[in-house]
Amino acid sequence: MSKKSLKIAIAIDGFSSTGKSTVAKRLAKELGYIYIDTGAMYRAVTLYAIQHKLITDSTPNKELLIKKLREIKLSFKWNETLGFAEMYLNGKNVEKEIRGMEVSNLVSPIAAISEVRSYLVRLQREMGEKKGVVMDGRDIGSVVLPDAELKIFLIADPKIRTERRLLEMREKGENIDFNTIYNNVLERDYIDSTRADSPLIKTPDAIEIDASRIDKEEQFNRVMYLAQKAIQKANKK
Ligand code: DC
Repeated sequence: MSKKSLKIAIAIDGFSSTGKSTVAKRLAKELGYIYIDTGAMYRAVTLYAIQHKLITDSTPNKELLIKKLREIKLSFKWNETLGFAEMYLNGKNVEKEIRGMEVSNLVSPIAAISEVRSYLVRLQREMGEKKGVVMDGRDIGSVVLPDAELKIFLIADPKIRTERRLLEMREKGENIDFNTIYNNVLERDYIDSTRADSPLIKTPDAIEIDASRIDKEEQFNRVMYLAQKAIQKANKK
């Protein structure tokens, strides 16, 4: 890619465990763009709520959490060895904790709180305004970066997504069964796509990719092809 090439914004939305972050991370690396994992930000807020006992019986204490939002400082710091930016919550690396089952089970109700969303959307827009960014999440093409030059919407069969997640978690040493993950996947799909504030939707200008029966390589190739086309188009203008 020529140095003079105008950079674009790329939004990758979709259901959980469709391979969004894997493809987004690699795409950003190959294009020399910044990768922003917005799910990690919702997860970090959830971890904060757990640590500060702001969740009782899976129900967040909304009012208290909203009051504490300004105390939640989030940042991404580049890890040279891993080749991506890790999530920091109030100065502490929380990358491992935010990926565990406890946070996964509680993140959707936290992400459904409007005040949490507007707090994080503001930060995400600041990160994306300079272009040269690949951002993944649920509302990137619809709310965070509605002017993104390329919008991808990833879908995949929930059972296949469960299998992939199971493998990932077992690789990390977490002993977990299929049904626990399957129920979590279905529940998150339901909450994410039915919540009142910025539900997961495919915008008319987004390109859908069904990742059920293609491997990571093929998924990446398709997204890379679309990205190159979008960059060419932006540079012709
Ligand atoms: O992508 P993920 O599984 O790490 O996301 C965690 C949760 O955060 C998911 O249940 C939905 C929510 N989320 C969201 O509501 N909006 C985003 N832009 C990103 C994630």
